[in-house]
Amino acid sequence: MIDLHSHLLPAVDDGSRSVEQSVRVLQDMARQGVTDVCLTPHVRASRALAVAPVEHDAAFTALAASAPELPRLHRGAEVMLDRPLSAVAGRARYITLGATRYVLVEYTRTVALETISQGLVRVLSLGLVPLLAHPERYSSCSVEAVRYWRELGARMQIDATTLGTTQARGNRARDLVAAGLADILAGDNHGDDRSVANGYRLLEGQGARDVAELLVVHNPGAILEDRPLEPVPGVVVKRTLRQKIRRLFEGEA
Ligand SMILES: [Fe+2]
Repeated sequence: MIDLHSHLLPAVDDGSRSVEQSVRVLQDMARQGVTDVCLTPHVRASRALAVAPVEHDAAFTALAASAPELPRLHRGAEVMLDRPLSAVAGRARYITLGATRYVLVEYTRTVALETISQGLVRVLSLGLVPLLAHPERYSSCSVEAVRYWRELGARMQIDATTLGTTQARGNRARDLVAAGLADILAGDNHGDDRSVANGYRLLEGQGARDVAELLVVHNPGAILEDRPLEPVPGVVVKRTLRQKIRRLFEGEA
């Protein structure tokens, strides 16, 4: 399994606070079968520089010295598009995933639909492929909007843990997977126990192992090799019995 979204570069953002914390998480991921992890600290388009911030390089050196052999570590960033990506930032391969053309981008939760569309078009115009982080998180997200963003050329990263939750964003994530609009799953680990393996197991447990392989192994692997992604067939992710019971107690059934 390959996880392309994590905040495990220690003490540089709101993710893992220390090398020790990151090492524990990486060891857990290795036990779950994760072979490759991309470190994607938060950066802002308004601040993205031509070279990686010094503290990122120092944190990577410190982590690499103590990290287990597996998962292999790749470098990248999660770029908050608080303003359109500049051409200079677009050329900076430290902000892309494993120095490929793919760049993980995010917005604030209440961002307007048209702002997302314009930001994605701008990234594409720079010759990069925007991989939109957790589209299900945005209130303006819908199946129709995501279909449009994918037609523009953007790709979608669904949060692996959200896929199994009862929240509205869980419903949106399941709708996107059902419509065949998800390209990869990722864990978005912040030094906690979130893992792309959660999503793999959820899909596998519902008889959708082929889709799990595409979303968690094949397509993330293609990104690291800078290749085009395979279309992913839609699959209906059912809520578990436990989730249905919780919904009853929450009065949302
Ligand atoms: Fe993130």
